[in-house]
Amino acid sequence: MNNSPCPEKRFARSLSLLAFACACIGQTVQADAMPDAGPADQAWRDASKAPEERAELLLAAMSREEKVALVSSTNPEDTDALRYLGIPALTRVDASAGLRGDYNVTAFPVPLALAATFNKELGHEMGAAIGKEARQKAWNVILGPTMDVARSPLNGRITESFGEDPVLNGWMGAKVAEGMESQHTIAQIKHYTVYNQEWDRLVLDIEVSDRALQEVYNLPFHIAINEGGADSVMGSYPRINGTFACENFDLLENFLKANPNFKGYVGTDDDAAKDKIAQVNAGIDSMALIHRPIPMEAFFDGTVSDERIDEATRRMLFATFENGLFDHPLPEQKAEVVTTPEHLTLAKQIAEEGTVLLKNADDFLPLDKNVSVAVIGPTAKDMVTGVQGSTYVRPGDYLTPVDAIRRAVEGSGEVVVAQGTLGDVTLPAVPAEAFKTRLGEPGLKVEYFDNAEWQGLPKHKDVVSHLDFHGKPIESLPENWSARYTGTITSPSTGLVRFSARTAGHIEVIIDGKTVIDGRRSESAFFQGDGGHYTYPIQGTVMMEAGRPVDIEVRYTRLGARWNHEVRLGWQPESLIPAAVEAAKQADVAVIFVNQVSGEEMDRDNLNLVGDQPQLIEAVSAANPNTIVVLNTPGAVLMPWLDDVKAVFQIWYPGAEGGSSFADILFGDSEPGGRLPLTFPASEAQGPQLYQGGGHIAYPEGVFVGYRYFDLKGQEPLFPFGFGLSYTDFDYSLLRLTTIDQGPARVKVNVKNTGDRAGSDVVQVYLGELPTTMVDTPIRKLVAFERVYLKSGEEKTVTLEIPEESFNYWSEADKKWIRPTGEMPVYIGRSSRDIQLDGTMVVN
Ligand code: BGC
Repeated sequence: MNNSPCPEKRFARSLSLLAFACACIGQTVQADAMPDAGPADQAWRDASKAPEERAELLLAAMSREEKVALVSSTNPEDTDALRYLGIPALTRVDASAGLRGDYNVTAFPVPLALAATFNKELGHEMGAAIGKEARQKAWNVILGPTMDVARSPLNGRITESFGEDPVLNGWMGAKVAEGMESQHTIAQIKHYTVYNQEWDRLVLDIEVSDRALQEVYNLPFHIAINEGGADSVMGSYPRINGTFACENFDLLENFLKANPNFKGYVGTDDDAAKDKIAQVNAGIDSMALIHRPIPMEAFFDGTVSDERIDEATRRMLFATFENGLFDHPLPEQKAEVVTTPEHLTLAKQIAEEGTVLLKNADDFLPLDKNVSVAVIGPTAKDMVTGVQGSTYVRPGDYLTPVDAIRRAVEGSGEVVVAQGTLGDVTLPAVPAEAFKTRLGEPGLKVEYFDNAEWQGLPKHKDVVSHLDFHGKPIESLPENWSARYTGTITSPSTGLVRFSARTAGHIEVIIDGKTVIDGRRSESAFFQGDGGHYTYPIQGTVMMEAGRPVDIEVRYTRLGARWNHEVRLGWQPESLIPAAVEAAKQADVAVIFVNQVSGEEMDRDNLNLVGDQPQLIEAVSAANPNTIVVLNTPGAVLMPWLDDVKAVFQIWYPGAEGGSSFADILFGDSEPGGRLPLTFPASEAQGPQLYQGGGHIAYPEGVFVGYRYFDLKGQEPLFPFGFGLSYTDFDYSLLRLTTIDQGPARVKVNVKNTGDRAGSDVVQVYLGELPTTMVDTPIRKLVAFERVYLKSGEEKTVTLEIPEESFNYWSEADKKWIRPTGEMPVYIGRSSRDIQLDGTMVVN
């Protein structure tokens, strides 16, 4: 069989590619129209051949230009000319929680909620559902799942991946990727590696040990590759020990690609690294996400070797064959509606199994339906459904929590609604009539400085009617300038006044001698549009008296901003709390939803609930002892009010089925299945040292990430990793452990539902300290988990496998994995701190 294209086709194809290459290096050439599909007898089109063989055959038939077109393509049109070879255009979509940007898709709960299910099968199903929707919308490469270990509770992208434990992260990612790839899409797991915060993400340098890299940050990727068969990996933004992750030969070639199970390709991230060709030479195979010009000469003048181009091409072709992209072409047209009742049912199940019940005093829950409920907070279309940024998914027309609660009690109970709080939002600008200069003129006096630190004499003075600008207010100011605004502010009402500052730079707002706002933003909003509509204001509150002017001083510096010059000082002078308190007093039960947004370039400032939400909880719980708090937050918040409320739920960002799943749980039609994939600290002093600015951070805690750190330091968290209450009770007995010589170890344990309702529990297997004196190992680390469903009174034997790699540690001296032998403690927990049974395993 002749695999070469016929000469005239080959000529047309070369011309088209030549045009591509020349265009890339700034020249033009006249080319024929794009060639049509090539002959069906090209050997690599034979689907009965193994993907490796097909990739090799095709590689051998490709010209340099064709290979370069594939690896350097940044959009599907770049590879149009390759269609002659049967190579499909690669169309890429962000989709860690559903398809970003498209309409009529399923908005699943965020991946952290999926992690809270500790249910691998649900991971596979969610991946498969996203993969199916992706293909129908004509996408064949999914930029996800995200598998970044949650080191910092403040990380803006914390809900995009699967929490603080590398094994949980790895298995959930493996299953999601496996599900996606079952639908003839390529899953690009991301972000390799050590991507744990948003502050300064494009320049940050992280100092991390090789052992922590291997045992914590890289491990999820290896599990996803080995157990889930993921065929593509996206590099991350930060520098790791001085070298950008996407330019890091050691990490990419020596660690990642050294895994014989990984035959697919590594892609770069959008803004990653500065030197695109250094990336290719360090092991980046696909440059797809680069939105800037690629110096194409490097592919033709020897800067990038033939071997490197071949390796990159081979890896991309392998992933394409392996996942059936050649044999299953995308539809010509995107389908209009791809969400289905089945996918929504799945989203609901994930939301339910991912909802964590943190407190249920006196077994107060579930509620009877003949009850009067005050529903308070953002419970309507203002519910936060997803994370802002590239993982945001449009929720469509969803059933809101308040409507779902109404529906549940219809005919038996009653619902009163009170807004109580607007949640985490940018407030409308303080109007001009609220301000007066100290001379009594309307507005605020402003002094502009031509430096970032209010130094010297002001360059300009003025009076502004209000504080709401976008862009330089005075053209002649330098890029880094500062300003001071002074005067008085008068509230039209008495009580708690809430303020918000949208800004790019640093802003401090002092009202009546109290610092109400003090914080920095590099930008006030990211990825608006198909990346969500949430903004990133700094919030504060202060008590004010109607009609009494008080001093206000606002200090703004543009230092720390990325693109914009921006301030909007917003307020909400009339507190919504008193009306919520009245509503709560009249009801049997008060349910308060609170929220906090987060996302890309949106790390949280601290663990406090923002705005007036803590005060709302305090006031409502004082008025009604049966108060239930629902945290629609990206994870841990401080809960100074915890003792005053009856129950607390953590619902993460629950997607389109957040309302219906919550109402079903509240009234006991379903149970809250979630277990925490993160430790909830009791104070900000707990946990490892977080970023202090300056573009550099060290991770001295090494492998002691998450609960391992709390165990090591003897810190008592508010809620431990793996924790979550059920509406029923479970009893654990009969732990049986195998001795291991080779292969995985087996653990058997009996679990009985001793309560009077059906329910499910998550059996968590932790390995104790390894018998080695060479390194310190975690007091407990998760090695296996399984969700078990039990009817009332039912007992089951649960069998779990501990993969043999779990017994290894990474030796920095030997640069390899070492397996110590001897006795190892094994713990069966209902959380990392609630150990039900323990035993000893002998490893030979
Ligand atoms: C994010 C990636 C995402 C990419 C494309 C980047 O900023 O880090 O996760 O896949 O944008 O949207």
